[in-house]
Amino acid sequence: MARITLENLKKYYGNVKAVDDINFTVKDREFVVFLGPSGCGKTTTLRCIAGLEGVTEGNIYFDGRRVNNLGPAERNIAMVFQFYALYPHLNAYRNIVFPLRAQGMPKTEIKKKVKWVSSILKIEGLLNRKISELPDGDKQKVALARAIVRNPHVLLLDEPLSALDERFREQMRLEFLKIQKALNVTTVYVTHDQREAMTLADRIVVMRDGKIIETGEPESLYEMPQNLFTGYFIGSPGMNFFNCFIKPNGDVFCEDVLPVHFSVSISKKLKTYKLSNLIFGIRPEYLFFSDKPDKTSNFFAVKLVNIEVIQQVLYGNFYIDDKLYKCCIEEGEPTDYEGYVVASDEKVRLYDPENGKILI
Ligand SMILES: Nc1ncnc2c1ncn2[C@@H]1O[C@H](COP(=O)(O)OP(=O)(O)OP(=O)(O)O)[C@@H](O)[C@H]1O
Ligand SMILES: [Mg+2]
Repeated sequence: MARITLENLKKYYGNVKAVDDINFTVKDREFVVFLGPSGCGKTTTLRCIAGLEGVTEGNIYFDGRRVNNLGPAERNIAMVFQFYALYPHLNAYRNIVFPLRAQGMPKTEIKKKVKWVSSILKIEGLLNRKISELPDGDKQKVALARAIVRNPHVLLLDEPLSALDERFREQMRLEFLKIQKALNVTTVYVTHDQREAMTLADRIVVMRDGKIIETGEPESLYEMPQNLFTGYFIGSPGMNFFNCFIKPNGDVFCEDVLPVHFSVSISKKLKTYKLSNLIFGIRPEYLFFSDKPDKTSNFFAVKLVNIEVIQQVLYGNFYIDDKLYKCCIEEGEPTDYEGYVVASDEKVRLYDPENGKILI
């Protein structure tokens, strides 16, 4: 098993800073997901861990041992890519045993290994089927079986589900989780799909522009994003962010046009920050539409433009200036679209617009 440490890791391609000074440790047997938009450096980070790319600067350690100068084979990693590199004309069994035969493993040992891996992945029934005849989800399972049959110390996965259609992906996500727990192997998984990250990860690493923005357990990143980018990227729909301006007398206006009422305790906090503007963040699920304001809470007036259903939840859309926001509608569609949105103190997050960081 293995702990992976990335120390001041940099990987530059000419002027492109694909990975720009990353520090992170993946604990032994942990399932870590690197999450971020296209081009943020996820694949490059993974390829550096695998030894497929040399690093520009910094160090990579496996269990405290520096591996910068070791090739992929010496690192005992297994990597599964977005597009499975299987031999289509061979059956699943022959694909899986390929790396074992290459190692010169005895036949009886090989049989035991295949039995073990195919029972974990529940692919016993597929072993004699040709790869070209299998549906995409099964192909990916065979690719995974081939990767893990050697008992790697580290499993590296680069968007392994993105080639599957949505229906399959959901199912594979759950199966994946079970498989990783059964294997009990240190896993680094790369994706731009926040739902995948939220379901699978012990911890998520949020990346942007080659840098780590924030790391944490899925729930804490969802509930208390320390950075605006995380709040925006995690959750679907993402978090609402309202630009607030604070007048010298303490009155607060959203986008300079809409008076915002903050509770006594939040108003006290605002005073201590001594800022003239800040960003008020709240998840749509925690911002409730109501026909009357709750004076003890945080609220402002809105006019909904429409109502939509997203994954069985009713959301109301409203504009401030020309920006669209969402709130949650609790009890069926309201008769009047004019009303208030209300947020309780424990769900209100306040950010510094200068650096996007949460204010404490
Ligand atoms: N071999 C290369 N040569 C030059 N630039 C590269 C190379 N590989 C990656 N890059 C650049 O490095 C940056 C990070 O790329 P990377 O593939 O790591 O991103 P990613 O987060 O995996 O994106 P995606 O979600 O699209 O797969 C991008 O700007 C990319 O164009
Ligand atoms: Mg990539």
